Amino acid sequence: MVVTGGAGFIGTHTVALLLAEGAKVLVIDDLRHACGVEVPPEADRVEAEISTPAALQSLARFQPTAVLHLAAQGGVSRSLRDPAGDALNNVVGTLALLRAVVDAGRPRFVFASSGGAIYGRARRLPTRETAPARPLAPYGAAKLAGEGYLGMFQRTFKLSYAALRYGNVYGPHQDGTGEAGMVAISCRRVLDDLPPRVTGTGEQTRDFVYVGDVARANVLALAATVQGPINIGTGRPTSIMTVARALTALGGLQAEPEFVPARPGEVPASYLDPARAQARLSWSPQVALQEGLALTLESFRRSA
Ligand SMILES: NC(=O)c1ccc[n+]([C@@H]2O[C@H](COP(=O)([O-])OP(=O)(O)OC[C@H]3O[C@@H](n4cnc5c(N)ncnc54)[C@H](O)[C@@H]3O)[C@@H](O)[C@H]2O)c1
Repeated sequence: MVVTGGAGFIGTHTVALLLAEGAKVLVIDDLRHACGVEVPPEADRVEAEISTPAALQSLARFQPTAVLHLAAQGGVSRSLRDPAGDALNNVVGTLALLRAVVDAGRPRFVFASSGGAIYGRARRLPTRETAPARPLAPYGAAKLAGEGYLGMFQRTFKLSYAALRYGNVYGPHQDGTGEAGMVAISCRRVLDDLPPRVTGTGEQTRDFVYVGDVARANVLALAATVQGPINIGTGRPTSIMTVARALTALGGLQAEPEFVPARPGEVPASYLDPARAQARLSWSPQVALQEGLALTLESFRRSA
């Protein structure tokens, strides 16, 4: 298996699972946003940007049976500030990789897409894959473009692919120092005896899915034959306030969340219908929110 972005947050968990199952793994990652956990020595590793000859030739030499494409610029706010930079990585980089994948004999391709970013203000909740995609930020538009190219590569080159539309992924080793990753940012604040920050009223809902469950979905999708988009979420709405309060309590703090203004374009509700993942991947989330938050806070405590 080739895992691009295998040194990142979701990549680290997925690579560990693949290795535990006895897979041979090549990680391609230029470490621009590595999560700090070393790539295990059992995995091969190429430190390169995904569209460079070094990366693409290493993929060809490895002759993978499947490719998991996680490497991306992951910041929604950053994509609004620099849409062209976002597209360069998330669209053009993906396209370079797809061309190399076809040349390498069309291994199965699994693409990390985003349910939260692709659907925008969805009319139906929980949202199904058949809902119209109406992204509100360049990040979501780039993921949709990636899916568009995948459909084209499937039709023209018979590439077998799945685009996993994740919800809000959280868990150990997520970067809590930037603008994205509310759970990770809140864990760091709670461990510094500061209350979590909540944007707007905090009543907006998201689909928080634990990273271990997402890693399992990735592994299942690599081995499956199902085509097209698949939601990877819990199907349950969880308000930002609920997460903030739960982490405050788990951290033993007695404080109200700190309110900050809502971000422009923030949608009031977003959660995904995971029925297709259940039917086609036999996947359903196993880690409940309270347990996942406790595991996450504990891992941040250990690494503090
Ligand atoms: N975390 C979430 O909540 C979430 C939700 C939906 C979709 N996704 C998608 O899942 C994927 C993984 O997300 P993550 O949270 O693990 O992100 P991450 O930033 O932790 O990991 C991405 C990894 O890719 C590497 N990388 C980035 N651009 C690269 C490039 N051009 N060449 C080589 N390496 C590069 C980084 O160094 C990093 O190690 C991304 O595609 C992201 O858009 C994440």
